[in-house]
Amino acid sequence: MTLLETVAVAFWVMLPAYVPNNAAVLAGGGRPIDGGRTWGDKRVLGDGKSWRGTAAGVLAGLALAGALTVAEPSVSGAVGFDLPEFTPLAALGLAGGAMLGDILASFAKRRTGRQRGAMFPGVDQLDFVVVSLPLTALVATEWFFEWFTWEVILVIVVLTPLLHVATNMIAYKLGLKNEPW
Ligand code: CTP
Ligand code: MG
Repeated sequence: MTLLETVAVAFWVMLPAYVPNNAAVLAGGGRPIDGGRTWGDKRVLGDGKSWRGTAAGVLAGLALAGALTVAEPSVSGAVGFDLPEFTPLAALGLAGGAMLGDILASFAKRRTGRQRGAMFPGVDQLDFVVVSLPLTALVATEWFFEWFTWEVILVIVVLTPLLHVATNMIAYKLGLKNEPW
């Protein structure tokens, strides 16, 4: 694979994991997952993790994976190299793992005394990669190792924080998010 192909595969393969966070921001609100419960004197997850946001995030990731799979033959034909199609389990691992990573990050934020919306550098940018990749490797093992080569993983680890910072800045400027991270 050329570098350009590696970057294209990395971006494409991660789209079902990228989109859930943004969909959750758009759809979020309503009943918090932790039901308002506290652990010690701190919330378990906080009001920023809602059932509606989480469901919308996972569904958006699954829908995008489906759309990309339908589009794959023509896009691959147009660019001249092979891009991944998503199996249902691969899509679930990526989208579900992204939301789970985000939820675990909020859990870690609350335990470390960070208020809702507080920055947690590194965790904010990579939480969903750290959970969605291992989860996908677990539930869609063969598919995972076909596409997630070491080069692709390296590009993802470099590319994701940059994309995350950029999209959150845009969401903040558009007034969709309260903080630019
Ligand atoms: N959101 C949601 N459910 C999720 C994830 C996000 O409803 N599982 C919505 C919430 O409205 C949240 C917004 O998306 O406020 C932004 O998400 P995020 O930055 O992850 O949450 P924060 O409010 O910053 O809270 P935390 O400090 O726990 O990350
Ligand atoms: Mg936040």
